Amino acid sequence: MLELRSREPNISTMGRCFSISPVLLFLLFTFSPPYALSLPIHEQGNEQHPDNNVQSIDMDPVETETLFKIMETMSSDRNWRVSNPHPCKPGSSWPGIECKTGEHNRLYVSRLDFGTPPNPTCKATATFPSEIFDLPYLQSVFFFHCFYHTRTTISLPQHSISTSSLQQLSLRSNPALVGPIPPQLSALKSLQVLTLTQNHLVGGIPEEIFTLTSLIHLDLSYNFLTGTIPNLLGSLKNIEGLDLSYNLLTGPIPDRIGQLGLLQKLDLSSNLLTGGIPDSIENLNFLVFLALSNNRLTGKFPEGLAKLESLEYFIMDDNPMFVPLPHELGRLVKLQELRLANSGYSGNIPQSFSQLLNLSTLSLQNNRLIGEIPVGLTGLSHIYHLNLSRNKLSGVVPFDPLFLKRLGRNLDLSGNPGLCLDKSEAYVRENIGLNVCGSNRSDSLVQPLKAEASSEFCISIYLLDVLCLWALYQLLL
Ligand SMILES: *[C@@H]1O[C@H](CO)[C@@H](O)[C@H](O)[C@H]1NC(C)=O
Ligand SMILES: *[C@@H]1O[C@H](CO)[C@@H](O)[C@H](O)[C@H]1NC(C)=O
Ligand SMILES: *[C@@H]1O[C@H](CO)[C@@H](O)[C@H](O)[C@H]1NC(C)=O
Repeated sequence: MLELRSREPNISTMGRCFSISPVLLFLLFTFSPPYALSLPIHEQGNEQHPDNNVQSIDMDPVETETLFKIMETMSSDRNWRVSNPHPCKPGSSWPGIECKTGEHNRLYVSRLDFGTPPNPTCKATATFPSEIFDLPYLQSVFFFHCFYHTRTTISLPQHSISTSSLQQLSLRSNPALVGPIPPQLSALKSLQVLTLTQNHLVGGIPEEIFTLTSLIHLDLSYNFLTGTIPNLLGSLKNIEGLDLSYNLLTGPIPDRIGQLGLLQKLDLSSNLLTGGIPDSIENLNFLVFLALSNNRLTGKFPEGLAKLESLEYFIMDDNPMFVPLPHELGRLVKLQELRLANSGYSGNIPQSFSQLLNLSTLSLQNNRLIGEIPVGLTGLSHIYHLNLSRNKLSGVVPFDPLFLKRLGRNLDLSGNPGLCLDKSEAYVRENIGLNVCGSNRSDSLVQPLKAEASSEFCISIYLLDVLCLWALYQLLL
């Protein structure tokens, strides 16, 4: 969810109209938590402490010392050596740590979690502890809002880290985590989840990262990464979620993206990507979420677009496309959200959009669309947000009064001078700011929504005031 903080303007704007955006819900329930929860790591930590065996097992002294060094680098919540001399021992461990039994029947740390209560919080002088790569049984690392004051880099020990069995490395929301992504991370051959979002990382995405073929989830979003997306990306055969959004990436979307056959979520929005959507994208049969907004993508859509049969979210506002909308979009029948605003689309709204029966949001505002609104859109029974404003649409609005009522303020047809409402729908005219066909009222193109909303609001405040005064008056009497 934090991926969508202030740098996602559309979401926050929509927040005014809806309690929660479907995109948010989608991200929340489909992606982020499952990766955090589904790995079998957590259970292992607990299972491995047979209570009857507690006395006989303890930690390797070298490992204990490494762990204390990490703790002292990160947190000053307590004097950890004094308060938790046996950090892995059941009953005397600190929050945010999990251990498991390993070699010589000793306890080894398997998970470290810092930054969010109840886990240890990070001190202002915390720096990245490269010692984590020396803990051979460590499987999961979560550092959330840990490096916020002292600038630090993702550093690795001088020696090889190939003994590390890390499966999940999650460094999130660390504004003082600077510098490049070290290519040496590619030695973490067991890595399944690499999350480096909302840091201050710079430089290119090292090609070596794409040799981590066990990766299931790669999130490098909200950094300052530059350069192109390496073509080697096609090697991530097991990847299900790829998020490179909100960086400064240039060049084309690599054609080899089509080789990521298990991909479900692809977010490349808010970069500086150029070129078209590669034709190979048609191979992504499992793709549910595709976000390419706010780039410099141009040109035509892939011929095989309709093969993206799992697609539910297609979010591609703000690109200089300047082509007609492809009618194949109408074959993506699972679509719930289709956003193609501010992209210079020309021609008609394809009739085929009437087949998108699960569509809840259609945003086509600020394009150059002409012609009439397809009558079939009235049949989109799930739609609750339709923005066709600022186009060159014309003719009679085909929506019936029920449809107009249902969408209310979430229907925006303004800024289409050629569009008018049939007389029979004229009584709802106030709500969408359109001409009644055949009349030429000078005020008819202004959208009265906001004024109306605020006057309603003011009236209720006024009534409340009157009520309060009256109550006060009664009390005083
Ligand atoms: C539409 O959504 C419903 C519920 O989310 C789902 O059961 C149905 O299969 C969807 N229809 C299509 C064509 O995907
Ligand atoms: C429709 O889009 C325009 C232009 O981006 C925006 O100003 C307006 O608020 C949107 N309307 C609705 C109802 O979302
Ligand atoms: C409305 O105004 C347009 C131009 O502003 C004009 O072409 C049209 O004839 C007018 N229609 C009516 C019914 O007055």
